[in-house]
Amino acid sequence: MTRGKFITLEGMDGAGKSTHLEWLPAFIEARGVKVVQTREPGGTPVGEKLREMLLDKSQGLHADTEALLMFAARREHIAKVIEPALRRGTWVLCDRFTDATFAYQSAGSGLAWERIEALERWVHGELQPDLTLYFDVSSEVGKARTSAVREPDRFEREGRSFFDRVREGYLRRAREHPLRMCVINGAQRLEVVRQHVESIVLSHCF
Ligand code: TMP
Repeated sequence: MTRGKFITLEGMDGAGKSTHLEWLPAFIEARGVKVVQTREPGGTPVGEKLREMLLDKSQGLHADTEALLMFAARREHIAKVIEPALRRGTWVLCDRFTDATFAYQSAGSGLAWERIEALERWVHGELQPDLTLYFDVSSEVGKARTSAVREPDRFEREGRSFFDRVREGYLRRAREHPLRMCVINGAQRLEVVRQHVESIVLSHCF
């Protein structure tokens, strides 16, 4: 049995991930593979409970607590959903993964990069995405898009300078992992972004 491919989508809030998650699973399945679509934080019953706590805007959390809860949810997600699917040959399409913890909890909230690296090694050292699609937009574009469509969650309420740092964090990860992480200009027209995503997925995964 050929192992499935693990694809993650990343980007700051408003970068366009959700829009592209609407068509991408069918695009991959049309090529004859099964796809499981999932998300972080979340993806398991425990993970979804942790997600509620993490996004709850009525309570602030220490950056350490946030990072540890993200990795607790992730451990569960890998053990119960991601690894079993990949082993049965199913592809996993995951809305955010560890790059988000580097971008948000380290670059955004100031936790040491090395701390997240240590948690990453502990929780999933051997497992890395085969491909990460990083939708890059400026904080202005991200903010304008999120405030136009929904009530902000705890992270989305952060200011522009937080999101400037989040973007820098993602770009640093992309420089550190150039083969896995593809930077896509998410500010372009939807069809242009879609064509770029299609060509990356076809060339990296098939
Ligand atoms: P979503 O709105 O894309 O579902 O993501 C939920 C929020 O959680 C988003 O604002 C980013 C944040 N987040 C982190 O801060 N660290 C992480 O590791 C992950 C996976 C998400």
